Amino acid sequence: MIYSRIAGTGRYLPERILTNADLEKMVETSDEWIRTRTGIEQRHIASEDQRTSDLCVNAAKIAMEDAGVTVEDIDLIIVGTTSPDLIFPNIATIIQHKMGIPACAAFSVEAACTGFIYALSSADKFIRSGDTKCALVIGAEIITKLIDWEDRSTCVLFGDGAGAVILKPSDEPGIISTHLGADGQYKDLLYYPVGVSNNLAAAGLGDSRIMMSGNEVFKVAVKTLGAVAQEALDANGLSLDDIDWLIPHQANLRIIQATAKRLGMPMEKVIQTVQIHGNTSAASVPMALDVGIRDGRIKRGQTLLLEAFGGGFTWGSVLLKY
Ligand code: ACO
Repeated sequence: MIYSRIAGTGRYLPERILTNADLEKMVETSDEWIRTRTGIEQRHIASEDQRTSDLCVNAAKIAMEDAGVTVEDIDLIIVGTTSPDLIFPNIATIIQHKMGIPACAAFSVEAACTGFIYALSSADKFIRSGDTKCALVIGAEIITKLIDWEDRSTCVLFGDGAGAVILKPSDEPGIISTHLGADGQYKDLLYYPVGVSNNLAAAGLGDSRIMMSGNEVFKVAVKTLGAVAQEALDANGLSLDDIDWLIPHQANLRIIQATAKRLGMPMEKVIQTVQIHGNTSAASVPMALDVGIRDGRIKRGQTLLLEAFGGGFTWGSVLLKY
């Protein structure tokens, strides 16, 4: 039986930091409002000349060094993102070229904030089938390009970044299980109103903004993130005591706290980065994973539950032994 396991991780955050104090000068808001409603204190913003692929390359190099692999070893690239450089060619091929990775399968998945979980789950299946020996899996966003900086209800929430993992085959798990789900009936609660076949010429991407019903998203997010975690535990006959670390999508501290409370998970066992990263969509889970590993909290052999929820709605979990 072939399993996949995480051989290395990395993250990259753009240099520029936008604090709540900076936002106070841009829209009618306050540090106090943002902190109490979301937990967010700061977020990183990509520079004008940075592309999402640049963030990915930086995170990928660190993950590859951590795993001790070279570009010649990589035989699959999967990227979870909603903010690719171009409509085509695919961002994974742009990353491949920038890094000098030899010809291999390279594609992206667009599942909003759940993008990395979808990407990791897909890579796991490639490795389990025996087709892939070394996968580069990335969650990345320059989501702030989709923000209307005059809309205080959304502009305080988001940030940019990239997180990467190297996945390799192993005789033992590694990834124990993955669960993915989606329900398109919730589209109107969170969406971006422009696409290739919808309003592209009329609006121009830069003229649009993220549409979000914050309260409704909040309620469904808490319910779904709780259910997703429980589904992974039930499928493996585990209880919360078996989980060393919960690594949820970092949308909002109140969503994370409410989910943990619903599950009965102490916050000390939940990796939290939303305070310093904001909501980085598909990048949030791999970056939080990397933070927990590099600051020494997450150790080899521990059991981790990764989970995410995002526009669609989409959701998913990955249960793994690190
Ligand atoms: N500063 C000050 N006041 C604000 C701001 C702001 N930045 N934004 C909204 N307000 C005001 C509103 O206008 C409203 O004023 P009113 O009562 O005079 O109309 C008041 O604050 C309350 O607004 P609510 O939307 O009810 O505030 P709420 O407590 O629900 O918090 C929030 C809003 C933070 C967006 C919350 O609903 C939330 O976190 N929802 C989840 C959304 C989310 O995380 N989306 C990210 C993408 S989805 C994902 O990643 C899972």
